[in-house]
Amino acid sequence: MKIHIITIFPEIFESYLSFSILWRAIDKWLFQCELYKLNDFSDDNFKRVDDKAYWMHGQVISAIPLAKSIESIYDNVGHKIPVIYMTPSWDLLNQEKIEKYYESLDNEFIIICGHYEWIDQRIIDIYVDYSISIGEYVLTSWELSTCVFIDALVRHIPWVIWNIKSLEEDSFSEKFDRKKEYPVYTRPEIFMWKSVPNILLSGNHKEIENWKKENLR
Ligand SMILES: C[S@@+](CC[C@H](N)C(=O)[O-])C[C@H]1O[C@@H](n2cnc3c(N)ncnc32)[C@H](O)[C@@H]1O
Repeated sequence: MKIHIITIFPEIFESYLSFSILWRAIDKWLFQCELYKLNDFSDDNFKRVDDKAYWMHGQVISAIPLAKSIESIYDNVGHKIPVIYMTPSWDLLNQEKIEKYYESLDNEFIIICGHYEWIDQRIIDIYVDYSISIGEYVLTSWELSTCVFIDALVRHIPWVIWNIKSLEEDSFSEKFDRKKEYPVYTRPEIFMWKSVPNILLSGNHKEIENWKKENLR
């Protein structure tokens, strides 16, 4: 999977993608993130990419640098690829939708991170295939919602999560009827006044599986 990210702040992604599981996955070429600084596509002497909104408070990312950046990615790839725009207002994500995006998105796609209030609506009308919200609240950082989406998506690429069973048995998985995971324990068997449930110490696989199902939340 190759994800092209258009942003004013590539540094935020460099930092987020440089640690832990995601870094290991990138290092093993399980997926790639290509970062593009939006300002590099501005014709303005000061590399500005925003302008005042018509009849609305705040600044808006202009259509021209965004269109140029998307077209330049199309040119490099050799054809059009899906374009995603993160926004509080549209398709609200959940685990099932993440799985559908993982199945339906081509192996290569673009995510636009704007800045300020919004991006020019004509970019959404002309280029955007999927508008995705990570929750019904408003974030300040566009990069943050993009990181959340990428993180939830790339877990599904084989070998990003080494233990495939843990992926199948995560909260909201199909196997668990989209419910939340059962409680988990480790040693010691007794901590303060609470002990590990006897069934988990019994070694009886069938009963443990039943216990897990009964304790989904
Ligand atoms: C300050 S918000 C703009 C909010 C916009 N004026 C509105 O009222 O919906 C800046 C950007 O952060 C991103 N963002 C904020 N909240 C988000 C959410 N819940 N899901 C996805 N992206 C979000 C979007 O890209 C958004 O356009």
